[in-house]
Parts: sequence; structure tokens; C-alpha cells
Amino acid sequence: MTKVLLCLALLLSTLAKGTEDPDWWRKAVIYEIYPRSFADTNDDGIGDLNGITAHLDYLKDLGVDAIWITPFYPSPQVDFGYDISDYRSIDPQYGTMEDFDRLMREATKRGIRVINDMVLNHTSDQHPWFKDSASSRRSKRADWYVWHDPDSKGHPPNNWQSIFGHSAWQWNERRKQFYYHAFYKEQPDLNFRNRAVRDAMYDVLRFWMDKGVAGFRLDAVPSLFEDPMLRDERYVEGVDAYGERKVSRQYTDNLPEVHDVLHELRQVTNEYPGRVLIGETYLPNAFELAKMYGKNRDELHLPMDTQLGFINRLAIADFREKLTEAETQLNGNPPLFVFDNHDNERSVDRYGDRVNDQPIQKLIATLLLTPRDAALIYYGEELGMRTNTPRRVEDVRDPIGRMGWPQEKGRDGERTPMQWNNDANAGFGGTRQPWLPIGEDYKTVNVAVESKQADSLLNYYKRLIKLRKENAQLRDGDFVMTDEKNNAVLSYIRQTHDGQAVLVALNFTGTSQTFSLDLTTRGVKGKHLKTLAASFASAEQIDLAHITLPQYGSYVGQVTP
Ligand code: GLC
Repeated sequence: MTKVLLCLALLLSTLAKGTEDPDWWRKAVIYEIYPRSFADTNDDGIGDLNGITAHLDYLKDLGVDAIWITPFYPSPQVDFGYDISDYRSIDPQYGTMEDFDRLMREATKRGIRVINDMVLNHTSDQHPWFKDSASSRRSKRADWYVWHDPDSKGHPPNNWQSIFGHSAWQWNERRKQFYYHAFYKEQPDLNFRNRAVRDAMYDVLRFWMDKGVAGFRLDAVPSLFEDPMLRDERYVEGVDAYGERKVSRQYTDNLPEVHDVLHELRQVTNEYPGRVLIGETYLPNAFELAKMYGKNRDELHLPMDTQLGFINRLAIADFREKLTEAETQLNGNPPLFVFDNHDNERSVDRYGDRVNDQPIQKLIATLLLTPRDAALIYYGEELGMRTNTPRRVEDVRDPIGRMGWPQEKGRDGERTPMQWNNDANAGFGGTRQPWLPIGEDYKTVNVAVESKQADSLLNYYKRLIKLRKENAQLRDGDFVMTDEKNNAVLSYIRQTHDGQAVLVALNFTGTSQTFSLDLTTRGVKGKHLKTLAASFASAEQIDLAHITLPQYGSYVGQVTP
């Protein structure tokens, strides 16, 4: 009897595990949450973990597979959480560990995975590791950060610059040395050449995976290493927003050693099935991006593909090229397309023209959600939230905006509170003024209003996400570019091996376009299209020989006989 029960238990657990696809991330829709700006449940003007938990039903309804939450660990908040002073607990501003555990449980119940942000490159200068390291050249962690002596004149060891402007070297009086910081001076770089540093960080990852997180978004991956010979960077043309000569970053960005660490991180992650490593990987081209997956698919699962989303103009040839590269240059790995995140002006302001913004936003949604990819959505992108750039330097919260005003206005604009409804403060919190102002358009651009409008951007996102899961071609099909000579309409099919296909067609111009397509050369039989989604009021069935798209129109249709 006990044997039978044991077998039954084993069978049940295998069945349960069987439903957990370890490759879930390949087609995932991942939703980025900036916790400070998502929802405030204790009325202090700052979003919190409970605010995320309170809105999980919304996220489930939207159809996301996972949420990536930007850092919520204890932090002096100089860089709003990217300066971590304790990697194993929760900043009281955002809640408690119990709140986090509840968020995990509630998300899991709804089939939503939780991905933590992980900042490896640097800690806060208030982290005990740094305090110890800075205390003396003979301290236990003396070599945990990147310390160097001044040059003979007492100046910094070379001309390296912080990504946030000015010298990357900060003087420390106690050690009589400089330390290196790729970002703010309050974010000293860890020394990844030191084995103890790596091991300490890997243990941090294990700590969170033991708690059940589905993986990590690794911050600032290309910044992990610097040239040990400290060679000066080459000066390149122009000055930065802070008025200093620009440097090339060949000795501080994307050094080959980065791959050793990514490889080790993958091994640590492999100790836990089904986890994913996403990377913040701003890179110059697809060739460098391909390397991030590892030669044997043994580094990052999903390095962010910023090639497509940051073309920053509706240039059809560029989109065709980048989509083709993602398909052909990444060794069959899925790209993780991203148009929006917490560091960049929102896509509507980079691609829109203020007249056709709604169809343009739908065009971007279609480009994000219908290729063979994993897709990243930044909170509010599904509503069409705009960048609310501060108008006065006094209002700026992001230090780079205060330092670089007015050339560099910082990143507050893309971090304003989520627009839930048209109550005071857009339903973000209570009566307390939110940490950043609410977008002026919140009465019309919000979840409550858009949920009720059949043709809203929100409903378009929902429709495409649902199709990605339910339509066999959009879910599993190959990606094949079609009609490549057309310089007004970008089109491609998603095709399964049984010859079934879905066509995606996008009008990149401000005028209506009519065209015909013959897909028989691609092995697709059929003369018609059954409309699955469109950014405009489309007939239910249309003829492949006569497709008309209004200006910036997007169309997704199943090829039928
Ligand atoms: C990444 C984060 C950004 C942060 C920086 C330093 O680029 O996305 O928000 O300021 O790293 O940690």
C-alpha cells in the first residue's frame, strides 16, 4: 500500500513538474515594474511591493508570463535602488520580506513568475563590503573594489569617465587611493577579478532562487570589467551633456572577461531548473549580442536586444534589417525585444508624431509581440503612457538630470506613476502627492478607461498577447520575411511546418497602402486572410491579392483557402 502511495505521489509530482516548461522564457512576455511608481498602498507617495500584489489580477488579465521588478533592496536610493546596501532584504520603503513572500505566493497562484533585478557591477558606498574595503588597504575586503593609486601629480590614474558623467575615479582619503565607479560615485564598482567577490554574489543569487524567484535581470552586464593596464581611453568627437570631451570606452565596456562571469552565472542558475538570466546588454551590433548567449548556449538566456527597439525612427529598411539579423545572427536563440524601459524616453515619444500616435503605438506593439521572440513590456507602455519630462530643474529627482540640466534632463519622465484610473493621483495611491507628478493625460490614458474601449491600445496588447499563446503559428511558427522590396509596408509570416501561416503587415507610412501578396513561393496555400487583430476596423476576411492598410495600420491575419 505504501509503495502504491509513493508511486502515486511520484507520478503526481512528475506531472506537476511536466506542466512547468523549463523553456518558458523563450516566448515569454515579461513585464517590467518600477516598484516606486506602480502602486502605493501605504500612502507615502512611493509605490510598494503590496501595490504590485494588489494588481496581480490586472497583470494576469493582460497575459504576462513574468514580472521583472527593478531593485527593491535596502538602498540609500541615490540611483533609486541601483545602489544596493544589502542584497538579502527589502527596503522598508517598499515593504518587508513577508510582503515579498506574499507577492511570490500570489503571483505563483496566478501563473506569473517573479524576476529580480540583480546589480552585480557595483554596490552602494554604504554597503558593509565597501565600508570595510574603504577603511584600510589591509582590511578583509581591501581588494573587493577597484582601487588604484593616483598618478605622480596626485590626479586620477587615467581619463576614464563615468557613464553618468565626469571622471570615473573618486578619491578616498583613508586609503589615499582612488576607486572606480562606472556610474555615480556612490556606486563603487566591485572587483570581479576577485574570486571572493564572485562567490559572494553567486550566493546572493542562490538566496533569491531558494525563495522561488524565476531568475534575474542582470544590470549593466558590459560594465563588469575594466582594463587591468588602466590604459587611457581614446577621445572621440564631441562633448557629453556635462560639457566634457567624449571617450571611446574601449577599455571599460564589454571586455572579453565578461563572458567568464556570465558562464559561471549560468552554472549557478542551472542548479535551479527553469530559471532565466536576462541581461541589460546595450551593444553595438547583433554580432556582440549573439556572443551573450554563449558559444554553447551557456551564458545569458535572454540578453536584451536593444538593436530593434532603439532605432528611434520609423525607418522600414532598418526594421527589416534588425528583424532579419535577430532571426539569422543569433544562432537560433530567441531575441528579447524591448522598446521601453526605465532608462529611456518612452517609445511613443521616440516614434510618434503627435498626430498618428495611436496607430504608431499599435504598430510598435505588433512589432514587439508577433515576431519569434521574447517580449519585454515596461509598465504603462500598454496604455500609451508618455514621457513626462520635468520642466524645471528644481523638480528633477534623478541626479543625472540635476547634474546635466538642461542638456540631460534625467530619467524621471519615463518613471512617473502608473495610470490606473481617473481618480485623484490616477489611482496610484491615496491622497499623498506621489514622488513624481502624474502624467497630464491620465484622465484618458489609464487602465479603467482603456479597459472599456474596444479599440484601445490596452485591448490591442491583450489581444496580441492572447494570440501569441493560442495561435499555433504565432506561438511556434518560423519567422519569414515577405515582400522585401516593398518600402512602405513591412510584412512577414509566421509559419508552422504543416504549411499554415499567419501574416503580419505593417504600414510604415502616413498614407494608405494597397498591395498584393503571393505566398505560394513560400509554400503557403491560400488566397484569403482571416483577420486576427488589426489596429483599424478591418473586414473579417480579406483577399491576399488586395490588402489595404490605412496610415500606420497594423494587420495580423490567418492565411485561409
Ligand atoms: C542600469 C539601470 C539604470 C541604473 C544603472 C546603474 O543601466 O537600468 O537604471 O542607473 O544601471 O546601476
